Amino acid sequence: MDIKVESLTKNYKKEKLDIEVLKDISFTIASGQKIIFNGPSGAGKSTLIHILGLMERPTSGKVYIGNIDCFIGDDKYLCDMRKKNIGFIFQFHYLMPDFTVLENILLPVWSEKNIKFKQAQDILTKVGLLHRQDHFPNMLSGGEQQRVAFARAFINNPKIIFADEPTGNLDKDTGLIIESLLFESSLQTGVTIVLVTHDEKLNSKADRVIKIVNGEICTI
Ligand SMILES: Nc1ncnc2c1ncn2[C@@H]1O[C@H](COP(=O)(O)OP(=O)(O)OP(=O)(O)O)[C@@H](O)[C@H]1O
Ligand SMILES: [Mg+2]
Repeated sequence: MDIKVESLTKNYKKEKLDIEVLKDISFTIASGQKIIFNGPSGAGKSTLIHILGLMERPTSGKVYIGNIDCFIGDDKYLCDMRKKNIGFIFQFHYLMPDFTVLENILLPVWSEKNIKFKQAQDILTKVGLLHRQDHFPNMLSGGEQQRVAFARAFINNPKIIFADEPTGNLDKDTGLIIESLLFESSLQTGVTIVLVTHDEKLNSKADRVIKIVNGEICTI
């Protein structure tokens, strides 16, 4: 699925302070492309991919996903759109501690969990954790927990995966393995991947690297 962003801005207002986080950002990502965003801390990368992932609304501008002008919809519409098309991997995995590994993967599709059970096990096999399916998150290492979060992002067969420094809390080597798994993912072919990472080793695997500096796309 492709993504088109037109003149996107995001401001946060707090009392007299008006913070301009994103300033007139425009770009297009073709369906199936793998894109990396990087740039200094505070540049606006998380804000941008939260908006692209339809979790936050922009101040102005348009986001088209598969030619649909997303933000003209209400919150329920955005939620349905996310459920149908989007998988999101957060920097901190946000697994639910009282649910097992398998249940955590099924959470985004809980109402269909009986139908999705086999698919969840297949995904777990691909990330090498089927034997841990009945364990709880606190029984897993950080890298294993992140692999579960990774698996969870695929359970709704998303057409776009967003990942915001998904390995930020892991050691460098484990982090690189997980990000490589994302880029070389055999979990689903043709999926558009948008990754925020500082790992330059991954740049050569991306179709494009977009640098964000001070809320703008840096072209130099
Ligand atoms: N809810 C908010 N209210 C006010 N300011 C905010 C809010 N969310 C983010 N910001 C500000 O927006 C700017 C960009 O934040 P963002 O999290 O997008 O940066 P980032 O590029 O992801 O940084 P990092 O690499 O540190 O994760 C920061 O200055 C931040 O303080
Ligand atoms: Mg961030």
